[in-house]
Amino acid sequence: VGSAQRERDLEGAHIVVTAGGTREPLDPVRFLGNRSSGKQGVAVARTAAQRGAQVTLIAAHLDTDVAAAASALADVVIVPVGTAAELAETVERHGVHADVVVMAAAVADYRPASVSESKIKKDDTGDGLTLRLERTPDVLAALAAAAVPGRTIVGFAAETAADRDALLALGRTKMARKGADILVLNAVGWTLGFGADDNAAIVIDREGGVVAEPVGSKDDVAHALLDAVVALRAR
Ligand code: CTP
Ligand code: CA
Repeated sequence: VGSAQRERDLEGAHIVVTAGGTREPLDPVRFLGNRSSGKQGVAVARTAAQRGAQVTLIAAHLDTDVAAAASALADVVIVPVGTAAELAETVERHGVHADVVVMAAAVADYRPASVSESKIKKDDTGDGLTLRLERTPDVLAALAAAAVPGRTIVGFAAETAADRDALLALGRTKMARKGADILVLNAVGWTLGFGADDNAAIVIDREGGVVAEPVGSKDDVAHALLDAVVALRAR
C-alpha cells in the first residue's frame, strides 16, 4: 500500500496502544522488569495518529528518549501505568469503546507473591534468596476471549527463535493459545529487538496465515500491522 492511499485510512477509529515494559515491585526500592524500550508501541501510536486515528497510549516505563518522543505526538493521549495489574485495569477502562487494541507492551508474566513494606535485607547464611512469584492477568488473552464485535485485537509475540520457521511455528502456537485477530512476531535475543531502531517482523492472522513481513524501521512494522487491521476491518 502506498503512503498516499494509506493517508487517513484510520479516520474516526479509536485505537488503544500499550507500550513499554511493566515493573513489579519487590520492596520500596526494587522491581522485576524487562528490557522493552517502548519504541515499537510508540511507533504504532505515531503512525496510527498520522493515519487519522484517535489514539490512547498506555505507557509503562518508556525509555526516556522514547517517552519524550511520545509526549511530542499531537492527538495522542498518554496514560502512564506501572505494573501489569495497573496496565490490565487501564486497558479495561480505555479499551471498552475502542475499535482497535494493540498490545505492544511487554507485560510481566509473574510478580512477587508478596511485596515487602520495608527494604529487603541481605543475609549471609549462604542459602541465597528465593523469591515466590505469582501469575499476572493476561490482558491480551482476556481481550481476545471477550470477542467484542467490531473490536480488533492485535498482539505481539517476542520469541527467541533461531530462524524464520522457528519464529513462525512459535507464533502460530501462541496465536492458537491466545486467539488475537492479528499477531506480530518478533525474534528477540540478548542483542536483538530491544531498544533497536530497526525491526523485522512477521504479521499473522487468526488462522496463522502470513499477511505481511515488514523489514525496516519500527514505523514500517507499525504501518504493516495497521494495514492488516484496516484490511481485516474492511472484510
Ligand atoms: N501479554 C498480556 N498480558 C500478559 C502477558 C503478555 O497482554 N500478562 C501480551 C503482550 O502484550 C503481547 C502478547 O501477550 O502482546 C504476547 O506476549 P508474550 O510475552 O510474547 O507471550 P506470553 O503469552 O506471555 O507467553 P510466553 O511469555 O510464555 O512466551
Ligand atoms: Ca510473556
